[in-house]
Amino acid sequence: MIKIAIIGFGTVGQGVAEVLIEKKEYLTKVVGDYKVVAVADSKGSITGDFDLNHALKVKRDKKRLPDGLTALEIVKNLDFDLLIETTTTNIEDGEPGLTHIKEALKRGKDVITSNKGPLVVSYKELMKISKKNNCNLLFEATVGGAMPVIKFVRRCLAGNKILSIKGILNGTCNYILSRMEKEKMPFKQILAEAQELKIAEADPSYDVDGIDAASKLVIVANALLGIDAKLKDVKITGIREITPEAFDVAMEKGYTIRLIAEAGNELKVSPRLIPLNHPLVLQGTLNALQIKTDLAGDVVVVGKGAGKRETASAIISDFIDLYANQTINFI
Ligand SMILES: NC(=O)c1ccc[n+]([C@@H]2O[C@H](COP(=O)([O-])OP(=O)(O)OC[C@H]3O[C@@H](n4cnc5c(N)ncnc54)[C@H](OP(=O)(O)O)[C@@H]3O)[C@@H](O)[C@H]2O)c1
Repeated sequence: MIKIAIIGFGTVGQGVAEVLIEKKEYLTKVVGDYKVVAVADSKGSITGDFDLNHALKVKRDKKRLPDGLTALEIVKNLDFDLLIETTTTNIEDGEPGLTHIKEALKRGKDVITSNKGPLVVSYKELMKISKKNNCNLLFEATVGGAMPVIKFVRRCLAGNKILSIKGILNGTCNYILSRMEKEKMPFKQILAEAQELKIAEADPSYDVDGIDAASKLVIVANALLGIDAKLKDVKITGIREITPEAFDVAMEKGYTIRLIAEAGNELKVSPRLIPLNHPLVLQGTLNALQIKTDLAGDVVVVGKGAGKRETASAIISDFIDLYANQTINFI
């Protein structure tokens, strides 16, 4: 029996819980029996022998979990095998996720996370701790939500040298730029509409100033290029200065503009001119990565970069990757 603790019970944590319930029969066939033995948010928790559907209902109805063990007490003391860490991203010091993940790994527990903060701040250290304690830290959901990149490159492009990686790692910026391209409206106006549609946050700076894309680039560079990259190593330019006129000039020459994150000779996030027929010219909130390799040439992966079920997809794929006990029969 795999005992799971879900720490962080917001959009993603609840999405994972829902899929663990919905696909119980299939997942049990693939990974063996499992049970969620703890869920925690910032205010409380439910632990022990409980009904996960009930926990979801409590969180939805009351907006918080009842008083109980704190997330840290669960991570440090409770009996579990797998921590699913889905607390809020903090790229300054990685907390609270960094401590949750470190403590679980130190106890030899496997960890799956969607939280970029701990990996942006301490990728190498966390990998060292997991190796030392003979357990795993998987993080497919941190880069591009449902877009499969980490396991795809490690498995399907095994044997290739990865020469460079570039792509679109922020759906909000891609939404704004692709609408500017089509409608020739100013940045501020489209940003305001994106905020109304909840595609952009009330404080959009993390997205539109390129920091979110840079954070994902740091994770990809560490995981797939094997370099010890930190956020300060990324040259970052956001999209606030892009004008509708810039699109006119670009398009006259057969180009458009997208926010491109690139890891090759240097780490860079910046608005770039791209030919209109290039595979990275996507519309809406899609994410994409173009991986340049020595054997396979260029490979492009496209997918949804965010969303409750989409991000749960990446976490569930890590879950299967960790515990699959037989050849996977795809549904
Ligand atoms: N949403 C997406 O599409 C998506 C996609 C890829 C990656 N991610 C990443 O996945 C993570 C979760 O995203 P989300 O959208 O689910 O965020 P969210 O809805 O804001 O949920 C975050 C959860 O973390 C909890 N939390 C915060 N501090 C905590 C602490 N000290 N101890 C225990 N729990 C704590 C919050 O508690 P309360 O409920 O009490 O506030 C909340 O339940 C983030 O790191 C995000 O960057 C999200």
